[in-house]
Amino acid sequence: MALLNFSSLVALCFTFLALFSRVVAFNITKILSDSSGDFSTFNDLLTQTGLAGDINSHSTITVLAVDNGAASALNGKSKDLMKSYLSLHVILDYFDKKKLGSIKKSQEVTTLFQSSGKAKGKQGYLNVTVTSGNIAFGSAIPGSSLDANLEKEVKTQPYVISVLQVSSLIMPPDLANSTSPPPSKAPHKSPQSSPSAAPEPAGSPSKSPPSKKSPPSADGPSSNDQPAADSPSEGSAAAPAIHAKSSTSILLLSLGLLSLAWSLA
Ligand SMILES: *[C@@H]1O[C@H](CO)[C@@H](O)[C@H](O)[C@H]1NC(C)=O
Ligand SMILES: *[C@@H]1O[C@H](CO)[C@@H](O)[C@H](O)[C@H]1NC(C)=O
Ligand SMILES: *[C@@H]1O[C@H](CO)[C@@H](O)[C@H](O)[C@H]1NC(C)=O
Repeated sequence: MALLNFSSLVALCFTFLALFSRVVAFNITKILSDSSGDFSTFNDLLTQTGLAGDINSHSTITVLAVDNGAASALNGKSKDLMKSYLSLHVILDYFDKKKLGSIKKSQEVTTLFQSSGKAKGKQGYLNVTVTSGNIAFGSAIPGSSLDANLEKEVKTQPYVISVLQVSSLIMPPDLANSTSPPPSKAPHKSPQSSPSAAPEPAGSPSKSPPSKKSPPSADGPSSNDQPAADSPSEGSAAAPAIHAKSSTSILLLSLGLLSLAWSLA
């Protein structure tokens, strides 16, 4: 009996661990919408580009937010390019006003764009320059202007997340080139196919099965649930981190369920 209780306890622990390891420590969407600033455009774009989820998956982060007026600089850009520019406003470290103020002259910081694999040279880094009475951010690409000035702290949770408002977006012009889709290769036409080749029988059933509507719930006890590792991710930078996180959860959950099943057997 004692053994059974012990293993039930272990199972319960594993299950809780699995569930709680997926709980995010903060929600950038909520932080921005709860703040008094005009961040709705910037906030919507973080959601549309999938960056909000990337940001939430980090445990130490600084977000440089801009108000609606400044965010309009992104109007008309492609979603890919918007994502690149916006990910340049996410620093992979914690910086509040005090920590920035302690920088001696200038420092280079790494952004989420650097982990996208798209950055060339210094494109994924920012230059933070501190002068008397001003803290300015700009691209670390030599010769870039440093004109995104720190306006205020929007929200800080020490060493976890800092959301700072800056005066303008940091948009190095040559980022546009690095994110354009690669030129498509020559048409992949099989040299063997003759123009008179008979078309495939129209009645042949499609190989893809009708998509099932079963939701991929994390708490479902189904054991043959495949982790959605092969679902088309948006090629996001943080995808490996997210995958690592969720596969750990799935592993823990499976372990928990297994030991629960074993203890009940
Ligand atoms: C984050 O907050 C927004 C707005 O409050 C909400 O719609 C969204 O579901 C939250 N996301 C998570 C992962 O909790
Ligand atoms: C940041 O930019 C300033 C002005 O261009 C430059 O003098 C400084 O060396 C740069 N700092 C770093 C760390 O690149
Ligand atoms: C990027 O594109 C612009 C024009 O769109 C061009 O002037 C510039 O030379 C390009 N830069 C690189 C690094 O290819």
